Amino acid sequence: MPTLSPNHPTNHSLHHFLNIEAISTKTLETLLKLTKHFFDSNGRIYSPKPYLQGKIVANLFFEPSTRTLSSFELAAKHLSATVLTLNVATSSTKKGESLADTVRTIAAMQCDFIIVRHADDGAAEFVAREVGAHTSVINAGDGCHAHPTQALLDMFTLQQHFHDLSKLRVAIVGDILHSRVARSDITALQKLGVRDIRAVAPSILLPTEIEKLGVSTYTDLASGLKDVDVIITLRLQHERMHSLNIVPADYAQQYCITNDTLRYAHKDVKVMHPGPMNRGVEIADDVADGPHSLILEQVKNGVAARMAVLALIAKPELGLLT
Ligand code: NCD
Repeated sequence: MPTLSPNHPTNHSLHHFLNIEAISTKTLETLLKLTKHFFDSNGRIYSPKPYLQGKIVANLFFEPSTRTLSSFELAAKHLSATVLTLNVATSSTKKGESLADTVRTIAAMQCDFIIVRHADDGAAEFVAREVGAHTSVINAGDGCHAHPTQALLDMFTLQQHFHDLSKLRVAIVGDILHSRVARSDITALQKLGVRDIRAVAPSILLPTEIEKLGVSTYTDLASGLKDVDVIITLRLQHERMHSLNIVPADYAQQYCITNDTLRYAHKDVKVMHPGPMNRGVEIADDVADGPHSLILEQVKNGVAARMAVLALIAKPELGLLT
């Protein structure tokens, strides 16, 4: 009998969640609808059923994380999974163990899910190839490549504020070159029909291939922000810059999102940031904490969005609920 590959475009069930490109628009929409299922009538996060009872979720984070790690942990616990968070700083990787051996060891403990964050592009795909068929791999951010659950929570947050995403004008401002969030957000926005996507940054922080994706580029904040409905701000990701030398104060002078620069955008513009923020560099305090900011909503929605991914993998029939 022919079998569908895990992320086959006509198969709305999921096995791995590695990047937004690999899932169909229908699966993305299913995940967005399922995210709603994990809020009660007071807007608090909960799970109607213990969908992951008896399952083991292992968090393998080889890079620092605050929001993503804690929200995966909470998501798995809300769903009644047993959760293992490996402290990579004290694990055998520090003794020279290869990624493949670490992953095979964790999978051999019969983990049903491995959530992986790693500094190398393609690490999550690598892990997915190393584990057996029993284990699902979720990419929690690999190098400059992909961060699909961040894109999912960002799209969910936008849907809470805008009825029709396809009409949106969205500016992504900051270090797009090194941003896995920008790549996954652009793909998700395009899958949901958004056509006006702008990448706003100094030219050395704009990937050369970005215009081929149908994204327009701007090096000037005033024109990049003109009339936009949404601004997604990004941190300067110095840890991935190697020889590039960007002085935060110089960057801030031209690109910091402040109450003054918000005036270029639509008057009801929403400002997002995946965190961690460098206040005073890419975003000013009065914007981060002001009425346009969706930043803490993004954090909250991240828990429910990750519950949707875990639950749809564990219980494909949940896709029919939506
Ligand atoms: C982002 C990441 O790790 O890619 N943060 C996050 O997951 N919330 C963005 C960043 O590090 O700047």
